[in-house]
Amino acid sequence: VENGPPKEPAGYNEIISTLPSENGWKVFQHLCFYQSFWCFPLHLEGAMYAQHHFKAQPTDVFLCSAPKTGTTWLKALSVSIVTRNSTADNIKNLLLNKVPHDCIMFLEKDYIKKPTDQERLLPLVATHLPYAALPKSILDAGCKIVYICRDPKDAFVSLWHFARGIKLNNNPNLPTDVAFDLYCKGRSNFGPYWDHVLGYWKASQESPEKVLFMKYEDLLGDTINQVKRLAEFLGRPFSTEEEKQGAVEKVIRLCSLENLSNLEVNKTGKYGDAEKGIENAVYFRKGKIGDWKNYLTPEMGDQLDNIMEEKLSGSGFTF
Ligand code: A3P
Repeated sequence: VENGPPKEPAGYNEIISTLPSENGWKVFQHLCFYQSFWCFPLHLEGAMYAQHHFKAQPTDVFLCSAPKTGTTWLKALSVSIVTRNSTADNIKNLLLNKVPHDCIMFLEKDYIKKPTDQERLLPLVATHLPYAALPKSILDAGCKIVYICRDPKDAFVSLWHFARGIKLNNNPNLPTDVAFDLYCKGRSNFGPYWDHVLGYWKASQESPEKVLFMKYEDLLGDTINQVKRLAEFLGRPFSTEEEKQGAVEKVIRLCSLENLSNLEVNKTGKYGDAEKGIENAVYFRKGKIGDWKNYLTPEMGDQLDNIMEEKLSGSGFTF
């Protein structure tokens, strides 16, 4: 990028300090607005760095999502699918010993810390970046992308719980209506949510062989078929023999909310920095469709539905 931001982290703070900012969520950092999305400065630095330096390998598959739309589940399923027949000691029990987020590289968080570490244990990389902000190398290399999305009402409620749950810097509990108002204005981490969905939706329409578009609700409602679809896309389809032996069900059981949330590592462990890290337990909550009804009024639900409908109109996409 000739006239774009500096290539090295030393120059990033200067840019970030000039960006529009939003502190209404009162989580560990404010949000800043860059390349048409909101994100924490910490992740933005990592994103800028990845945009300049990341070299995708053609075999990499990118697991993409807006926060709280099923990221943890998608990571767990993908890890489980690609490692199911592995006998290597450092791979075979990954999900039993690490929170799914720790099993694969998180592009905007991990890459800047270990840029020379191009040897990936698994051919999977996760990111919350919008499609338009992905490092160009990912598209140039023709990498496959899996995107998961979720009904925004449930994604919002999940995000609101998460913001309260991470308890960093003693962030105060945010009233639902304040958070909801911000969300409806697009001011959420990696938001606006509708733009996030739309970017990947369009890409999946243009190149269905490269971009697999999934919905959290479909995954819950028809888990077996959706997991088989994911496995095929990842180039690791279940053989007839495996199906007969219950390999699909085994993957599903391992990755279930109930199983993962009861593992010691996910009950007591932390993701990231030992002191400031996020408790793994915060990533696992109810995993239900329609939990929003316990927190939002029907009018609020309609309001968000109407925004989505308007923003996504003409795209052919509906929730
Ligand atoms: P709720 O807050 O509605 O319960 P993300 O993984 O993108 O952060 O999304 C978090 C949401 O996915 C939370 O939803 C969480 O409970 C749910 N979730 C986490 N792990 C899951 C799993 N293994 N299966 C189904 N849902 C899961």
